[in-house]
Amino acid sequence: MTTPFPVRVAETPEDRAAAMRIRVAVFVDEQAVPPELEPDEYDAVARHLIALDPATSLPTGTARVIAKEMGVAKIGRVAVLREYRGRGVGLALMRFALDQAREMGLTQAILDAQVTVIPFYEKLGFVAEGPVFDDAGIDHRRMTRGIAP
Ligand SMILES: CC(C)(COP(=O)(O)OP(=O)(O)OC[C@H]1O[C@@H](n2cnc3c(N)ncnc32)[C@H](O)[C@@H]1OP(=O)(O)O)[C@@H](O)C(=O)NCCC(=O)NCCS
Repeated sequence: MTTPFPVRVAETPEDRAAAMRIRVAVFVDEQAVPPELEPDEYDAVARHLIALDPATSLPTGTARVIAKEMGVAKIGRVAVLREYRGRGVGLALMRFALDQAREMGLTQAILDAQVTVIPFYEKLGFVAEGPVFDDAGIDHRRMTRGIAP
């Protein structure tokens, strides 16, 4: 059964630090992404999200939304702590990210998906396009979907 995981915008220093801790645990420690890529220069302008465990209020996952030119939202750094995976946290984060992008007046969502995770984003209506490319030693593909107003 899927558990509803609350998601909120990470506005306080504590929430921002929790989001970064999750990114380091998932991308640097687990996936061996170079630590100098966490954080990066887009963090200052991104809207950061955290998902919470409904029982303990502990952070379970994170994502960020960046407003690009031409009404485009770039969603990225989608990460769920290993022990919380497969319970709907990722879907909750992505739906909230799309809601945020809509609220920001953006009309198109893009992301760079790790190729092994493409089926996860397809469940949310994203479509892969273009070639496979390397980012931080991991194969990725660009995916897009519209955001209805
Ligand atoms: C990818 C990730 C965010 C998914 O989060 P999650 O909380 O485990 O996902 P959910 O439980 O919400 O899964 C939703 C659905 O997607 C599917 N899914 C999730 N990850 C998948 C994967 N890697 N491959 C195929 N399907 C996947 C689930 O089976 C589920 O399907 P269902 O609704 O039919 O049961 C999480 O696995 C993660 O943090 N991975 C490591 C970091 C990473 O790779 N981030 C993506 C960078 S592009």
